[in-house]
Order: sequence, then structure tokens, then C-alpha cells
Amino acid sequence: MAIDRFGRIIHYLRISLTDHCNLRCIYCMPEDQTFRPNADLMQDDEILLLAKLFASLGFDKIRLTGGEPTVRAHVVDIVRGIASTPGIRNVSMTTNGLLLSRLAGQLAEAGLKRVNISLDTLNPDKFKRLTRWGKLEDVWNGIMAAEQAGLTPIKINAVVVKGYNESDVVDLARLTLNHPWQVRFIEMMPFAGATDIQTGQVITATEILERIEDSLGDMEVANGGKLDGEARLFRLPNGKGDVGFISSVTAPFCASCTRARLTADGRLRLCLLREKEVDLLTPLREGATLDDLRQIILDGVWEKPWGHGLAEGLIPLNRAMNEIGG
Ligand code: 5AD
Ligand code: SF4
Repeated sequence: MAIDRFGRIIHYLRISLTDHCNLRCIYCMPEDQTFRPNADLMQDDEILLLAKLFASLGFDKIRLTGGEPTVRAHVVDIVRGIASTPGIRNVSMTTNGLLLSRLAGQLAEAGLKRVNISLDTLNPDKFKRLTRWGKLEDVWNGIMAAEQAGLTPIKINAVVVKGYNESDVVDLARLTLNHPWQVRFIEMMPFAGATDIQTGQVITATEILERIEDSLGDMEVANGGKLDGEARLFRLPNGKGDVGFISSVTAPFCASCTRARLTADGRLRLCLLREKEVDLLTPLREGATLDDLRQIILDGVWEKPWGHGLAEGLIPLNRAMNEIGG
């Protein structure tokens, strides 16, 4: 079992399959972003070996992220390999949805349980402005394909950026009236890559909630007031789905954190918003034994930082978001 010095049991691993992406969201990376050479990234067999190691330490839940995980070659085989690893109970994915209309069925068949799809607005022009390269219709078709393939319950993630999509939160929340989806609003967090936007154009979860209630009526607390993962859940009058708020900046959920991350280049990142990382890929390539690697993981988890330092002005700048995967 992997436990940290504050007694938190860490059993949820988010694996970034690639730093590449087929979008260039303005709050994530610059349009001319350069990416790591393929040889620096974990290869398929290395990902599966590390997944097996983590599973042997009690990790039972894995989420695949990016960049954009669906642009990784052999993504379906990687899902199949991880899903069939003894001890892994749940494999899910965070994706921008662009390629899901083609891949959702295969991913579900390979053992993927669910997807979180990023969608910041229902307005095609604003979508293009936020993602620089994206076509809204492709994401929508991806959501439909995911639902059809049984990758449910569908969760939609929306990052809210002042001056871009703060008035769109109402239409997004309205989706939960007719669909059994969870639409979650995420406070923008600061990293390298787009730090000016990330620090200057934040809209808080409270502001988003007020905008939604002003237009659609007061919401009820859902899920008995308990966090669902990192989200606080509410329900609109007559809603079929839930509206969630992930207030990582204004109300962090660090005390109940159970997660660690594996970056695309094979570093164990202990907190999304702290620079501390432990290299696993280099020792693996240099011939470390499985027991050595297990010990490196356990030591790293033990040192997991308590929480982030945003309130003290500490912004993690060693990586952009697309390398960590959210
Ligand atoms: N702050 C919060 N969320 C972000 N995402 C990307 N960059 C940021 C940021 N700076 C989101 C994406 C996606 C998920 C992987 O993380 O929109 O939903
Ligand atoms: Fe790609 Fe996600 Fe970053 Fe957008 S937020 S550019 S979809 S990695």
C-alpha cells in the first residue's frame, strides 16, 4: 500500500500518454508549443510495466490523460493492457473528444469504463477562439459516440476564462436538464505555458454558481453534499444530471487527495500544483529491478506535498499543463 506521511492512502494514478495534442487551448499552451521527442516518452511496454508495478502497490484506479490521450499510437491496446492488469478495477480517460466518434466503441470494448470530455462552450465561434484549432461539432459527435458506447456516466469538464466563456456557463449547465450528465466547471489553475491568462482571467466557482442560479433557478445540493472526486455537486430544478464545481484554487480538496500522476516522460508527479517529481523512467531504462522501482515509488509517495501553495503565490513552472494531464 502506498501511503504518505499525512496518512493519505494513494491509490489513484493518472497517466499522461503523450504531451501532444490536436488542440491548442489558450489556457493550456501557446500555439507554437514544441513537444518532447518520442524517445523521451514512455513506450507502450514501459507504460504497461509501470501500471503493473503501481497495481502491485494497491493502485486500483487509473485515468489516462495527455496532452490528448487519443492521439497516442496504439491507445486502444494500451487501454486493453491496463484494464486487464490484475488489481486495476477502473480505467477512465480525460479527452477533448475530437477523435471519440471514431474510437469510443473500440475503447469501451478494450475495457475503458468512462470518459471525461472537455468542452468549454456550446458556441462554435467561441469554441474556436478558446481551442484555436477545434470544431465544436466534432466534440459533440464524440460525446454522442461515447454515450452510445456506454462510456457513462458522461462527465463534461469546462474551464471558465474571463473574457472568453463566462457567459456560456448557463448553456452548459442547461445540458443537465435533458441529459444524465455531470457538467463540471473548473477554476483555471496556473502553470507554465499560459501563465498570464491563467492568473489574470480566473472566474471563481462561486461566481459561476451565481450566474447559473440567476438564469436557471436555485440548485439543490446533490450527492448528500459529499465531494464526487474533486467536484461539489448540485442539481437544477428538474435536472436529470448534476452540475459540479471544481474549485481547486479557492477551495482546494487536498485533505482528501488520493492521487499521484505519471507524466508522459515517466516522472511520478506527487501533486498537480507542485514541482516535485521523481524519475521512474530513467532507472527503469538503466535496469533497476522491480523491487527497486517499487521502493522509489513508495519513497516518493511518502514525500507527497500536503497541498499546493497558490495562496502563497507559488506557481509550478517546471511544466505546462499538457505534460501533466490535469
Ligand atoms: N486550469 C484548469 N484546468 C485546465 N485544463 C487545462 N489547462 C487547465 C488550467 N490551466 C483542463 C482541460 C481539461 C483537463 C485535462 O484540464 O480543459 O478538461
Ligand atoms: Fe489539448 Fe487539453 Fe491542452 Fe486543450 S487543454 S490544448 S485539449 S491538452
